[in-house]
Amino acid sequence: MEAQLSSYKGREHSYIKHCFLTEYLRAAAYKTFQGRSEVFNFVDAFAGPWRVANEDYSDASFDQALRTLESVRADLQSRGRKRLKVRFCFCEKDPESMNKLRKYARMRHEFEISIFPGKFEDNLGQIAEVCRGGFTFTFIDPTGWNIRSDSILRFLKDREGEFLLNFMAEPVNRHAGYQLVASSFGRFLADPNWNAQFENLPQEWGNERRVLHLLRRQIKNLGAAKYLPDFPILNPNEERVKMRLLLGTFSDKGLEVFRDVQQKVERLQIETREQLKSPRSLFTPEESAALQQGRAGIGCDKYFLEADALVVSKLQKETHTQYARLANCVIEQLPMRKPDVNKLLVRMKDRGAVKFDLPKGRRVPQSTTRISLPS
Ligand SMILES: C[S@@+](CC[C@H](N)C(=O)[O-])C[C@H]1O[C@@H](n2cnc3c(N)ncnc32)[C@H](O)[C@@H]1O
Repeated sequence: MEAQLSSYKGREHSYIKHCFLTEYLRAAAYKTFQGRSEVFNFVDAFAGPWRVANEDYSDASFDQALRTLESVRADLQSRGRKRLKVRFCFCEKDPESMNKLRKYARMRHEFEISIFPGKFEDNLGQIAEVCRGGFTFTFIDPTGWNIRSDSILRFLKDREGEFLLNFMAEPVNRHAGYQLVASSFGRFLADPNWNAQFENLPQEWGNERRVLHLLRRQIKNLGAAKYLPDFPILNPNEERVKMRLLLGTFSDKGLEVFRDVQQKVERLQIETREQLKSPRSLFTPEESAALQQGRAGIGCDKYFLEADALVVSKLQKETHTQYARLANCVIEQLPMRKPDVNKLLVRMKDRGAVKFDLPKGRRVPQSTTRISLPS
């Protein structure tokens, strides 16, 4: 990972955000270059620099993305892949930050960096021009919910690629009920009539969950993604979700990699929070993180139970379904990795809760294995 924790005093959540971004980007770039395309476009739509501590911007998303993608390209080049190309598009609204971004780009003329001053929403056409051809990964990292999602979602739908959206859970949760901000939430949700639907969702879900539910539905309705898994980033010193990283993808593999990255970065998040605690526990932060993750993190007993119920309810509706469809549904909705889902289905089969035949010599279901409830 490119980020150094020492640069993030008081904003450890940004450290976790950057670690997730670069880990996922690295995997996405290898996957793209080794199959899909020789061109990888990285769009930092809300680039900053914003509240950085380092003069060289090594604690900013654009610099970390640049270093991550360059290391993948250089690694593959040293192994004979000579034609790979990474294009960078950095967009920023604030003129002062923009000047810094321009200076940064001028000092790195060996890279293909395009700079877009102004709002992301007003630059979509020009960015699409630069990103023609190739796989496009868009990072959308606003400070709140004040963005015009309809045009952004159209841009994302028209790209071959994926996006990572930072959903600002804390401010959304605090403000979603206020009439004063109803129209800005309408722009964020690409639906001026969002309020009626919001009111119809269960009150006990709370503001954040209801807004996220509407946003997910709208992103899928407008065809910008098939899967939208999320990873919660906590307030560094409190038991409260500060933001959620939401991946938009059409790829089964993207979904799988997202949860693999989550396992690694979730562990890092717990370790980081342990280091901030005083007094520290008897265990080292690493030991403590391993224990806590086993108890309440990705793939823990609680999520196995929830996944069990989800599988049963899905099969009650569909009578039978292929493994790949069922696994993707679980992996998208719950913090479960593919090996967790395999283990769950084998356990469910052993206790007679589901039925499927395993191909000879296989211990786990294959993508086309038909799974059903016992008759
Ligand atoms: C949270 S900061 C970005 C931090 C950066 N991505 C990082 O992780 O290092 C959000 C940035 O978006 C800029 N901004 C706000 N609204 C924008 C818009 N509509 N289009 C582009 N930039 C915007 C702000 O000036 C600010 O620099």
